Formats: sequence, structure tokens, C-alpha cells
Amino acid sequence: MSQSSRCPCATTPRRSSADASRGCVDCHGAKGNGHMFHDDGKGMRIAGPNIGPGPGNVVASYKPEDWVRAIRHGVAPGGRPLMVMPSEDYNRLTDEDLAALVGYIRHLAPTEGGAAVVELPLPVRALYGFGFIHDAAGEIDHALPPMPTPRPLFLRMKNRIDSSHLFRATPDS
Ligand code: HEC
Repeated sequence: MSQSSRCPCATTPRRSSADASRGCVDCHGAKGNGHMFHDDGKGMRIAGPNIGPGPGNVVASYKPEDWVRAIRHGVAPGGRPLMVMPSEDYNRLTDEDLAALVGYIRHLAPTEGGAAVVELPLPVRALYGFGFIHDAAGEIDHALPPMPTPRPLFLRMKNRIDSSHLFRATPDS
């Protein structure tokens, strides 16, 4: 799925080609403790929430199935479609990769704070409202099985034992 059909930040130039891989780190911070990755000064501010272990964090009461739903399907535990979060990139992660990724995140150092921020200017909200921009949850074919062969993104992860590569998802050279 192309990002341009959905992410309101798609019009912003990315910092480098490495960003195209959209690792969790780009939007949730290197330590998973939340990151304001878009602030154009014109009313569009988007921050990924703190997804590390820590009191009061959005994932504090996550059960294993909640991780699967959020990462693969772009849906929060209460059933709310997550905005901006590119779950279409992660929908077909193998069970093994997903388990390694969640294991890695759950062992990050606990930090507090870092709530999600999704503030969109009125025209962008209108595009959402009229269905021109979709959340990942609305784009994903939720019935697809995990990809039997790794996607190019994951082919670059030579060291599959260190699952921090799954979190970063950036080229390792
Ligand atoms: C392009 C930016 C972006 C990337 C890349 C990204 N996320 Fe997110 N993520 C977000 C935003 C923004 C939210 C908050 C969405 C909302 O609350 O509607 C979010 C929310 C979440 C949540 C919380 C859901 C909840 O219960 O409220 C989890 C868990 C999460 N992301 C995990 C991940 C993981 C793991 C990765 C990497 C595999 C990842 N994200 C990659 C932007 C991103």
C-alpha cells in the first residue's frame, strides 16, 4: 500500500532514504519512549506514543493479542483504528518476527510519559472524514496469512538473533 493514500505526513520530505522503511523507531523514538515525528508549525502535529514498559503507558495492560492487533492490524485494544500507524507494513510479519519484536519492546527500559499526539488541520481531518485518507485498519486485508518469505525490509536484517533490528527496520550498512 502506498503511504500517500493514507498518511497525512506523506507530503513531508523524509530525512533520508533509510526512513522509507518506517521502523518503529522513526515514530516511537529510539527507546520506544514516544517521539514527535511531525510538527509543521501549521497545525499538524503527530507523535507516536511511548510503547515501552512503564507506568501508565498505552501498552501497560496489553495482552499478547493486543500487540498482534495493534501491530498487524492497526487497531487499539478497544477496537479503535489507529491513525497514521503504518500497520500495512507489518501486517504480514511472521509469527516469529512479531514475537521477537514484541519481546524486544517489552524489554526496553521503562520510561514514563510520551502520549500519542494526532493533531490534524481541518482540511486533513476533512479528507479523513470523506474517506480520502484511510487508516491502516481500513486498508489491510486482515485475512492474509503471514508472508512465508521475508519481505525486502526484513531481508536486510542479517542478524536475526538481535531483534532490535526489527524495531529499527533500517538498513544495517
Ligand atoms: C509512521 C509512524 C509510525 C510508525 C513507523 C510506527 N508507529 Fe506505532 N503508532 C504511531 C502513531 C501516530 C500512533 C498513535 C495512533 C493513535 O493513537 O491513533 C501509534 C500507536 C502505536 C501503538 C499503541 C496503540 C494503542 O493502544 O493506542 C503501538 C503498540 C504501536 N504504535 C506499535 C508500533 C510498532 C511496534 C511499530 C514498528 C513495528 C510502530 N508502531 C511503527 C505511529 C507509528
